[in-house]
Amino acid sequence: MSATGIPALGYARRRRQLMRMAGDDAILVLPAAPERIRSRDTHYPYRQDSDLWYLTGFAEPEAVLVLVPGRRHGEALLFCRERDPEREGWDGPRAGPEGAVEAFGMDDAYPIDDLDEILPGLLEGRTRVYYHFGRDTEFDLKLIGWLNRVRAQVRMGAQPPHEFLELGHLLDEMRLFKSRDELKLMRRAAKISVQAHEAAMRAARPGIHEYELQAELERVFRAADAEPAYNSIVGAGPNACVLHYRANAAQARAGDLVLVDAGAEYRGYAADITRTFPVNGRFTTEQRALHDLVGAAQAAALAQARPGVPYEAGHKAAVETLTEGLLKLGLLKGKLEKNVADGTYKRYYRHKTGHWLGLDVHDVGDYRIDGESRLLEPGMAFTIEPGLYVPADDTTVAEKWRGIGIRIEDDVVVTNAGHEVLTTGLARSADEIEAFMAAR
Ligand code: GLY
Ligand code: MN
Ligand code: MN
Repeated sequence: MSATGIPALGYARRRRQLMRMAGDDAILVLPAAPERIRSRDTHYPYRQDSDLWYLTGFAEPEAVLVLVPGRRHGEALLFCRERDPEREGWDGPRAGPEGAVEAFGMDDAYPIDDLDEILPGLLEGRTRVYYHFGRDTEFDLKLIGWLNRVRAQVRMGAQPPHEFLELGHLLDEMRLFKSRDELKLMRRAAKISVQAHEAAMRAARPGIHEYELQAELERVFRAADAEPAYNSIVGAGPNACVLHYRANAAQARAGDLVLVDAGAEYRGYAADITRTFPVNGRFTTEQRALHDLVGAAQAAALAQARPGVPYEAGHKAAVETLTEGLLKLGLLKGKLEKNVADGTYKRYYRHKTGHWLGLDVHDVGDYRIDGESRLLEPGMAFTIEPGLYVPADDTTVAEKWRGIGIRIEDDVVVTNAGHEVLTTGLARSADEIEAFMAAR
């Protein structure tokens, strides 16, 4: 088992599978994520590019993986930083090209500074280049430069590649289906996230600041060797209605709900959980009514999480449940069919019911194939996250509903028999949340 939680052989298998799909006349080029400056000479925390991580488990910046299927002198090549005792004294250890071969199972490895010299020769004679165009403009330009160097040699008999393909066509499809090893890491990310949400619920009391709850969540992440998979959202009262609320600066008052959307990333794999709880531990009648409705919508979507069902069925089930409930509660008027057809629910529910989940919180993979919603298959992991958000200034509804924002989000993976909820054990219904908070 490597430090990444995936056995080293697993990476080699993924590389082989990708090369098999790409074919013997192809070459695949995957640069590491660039380092980003935060201010002057300090950087944002470095995070490896998900694709490179998926294929190598190599965490360092300034690296490029080149896969050359069928190449006699080695198919998997890594360009990376050389060992450098002086720099390592500042920034920490580097694998170096030797380590890339020994510890990361590359067929060969070279100093990153030699990329300019070596890559044109690797491109020469290959028909197709798989690369993620447009993700890293600086690298796009370098690649074009290397191609032009091969093109300049045509009269000398060089054969430049002439097909350029989106790497994601092959790789996204592989990443969409989670292996047993990946699911172990996703369960771990989910478990850490469940504990983080429990810590936030435990700490909640009227007067607490959103950032104090954020601190509770992220303390649990870091204490478990994980980190936030995305910016933690902690929104009290009407802040819950701001879908990507990030300020996390307000104070929660007695009677407020707090919406917490936070998930851990563990060994690169994300969890994504939302709970909405009363800061004083007791739901009001209206808060409970809407919370029950969102819970019913989530249950309806969850019932669609099994092989052979279109991905979209979950969203449709949630929308129907929400619309029906909003009519019952008087937030919408008229007939169910007409409301569903007109999409009137969108005033209170503006987002979709979920997304693929994996190395990226909004993970890769097509949702539709040939214009149709794709059918669920075992190994696909996604979130189920219906919500309702009544704007504080919505004068079309009775005042008692205004400013209530609720989302309930859990993570599932499709299995042969149906599904497995990864984010189990965390209080979810209003009763469960009140019981949990009463027992603090
Ligand atoms: N936390 C981002 C999302 O729920 O999609
Ligand atoms: Mn979320
Ligand atoms: Mn989500």
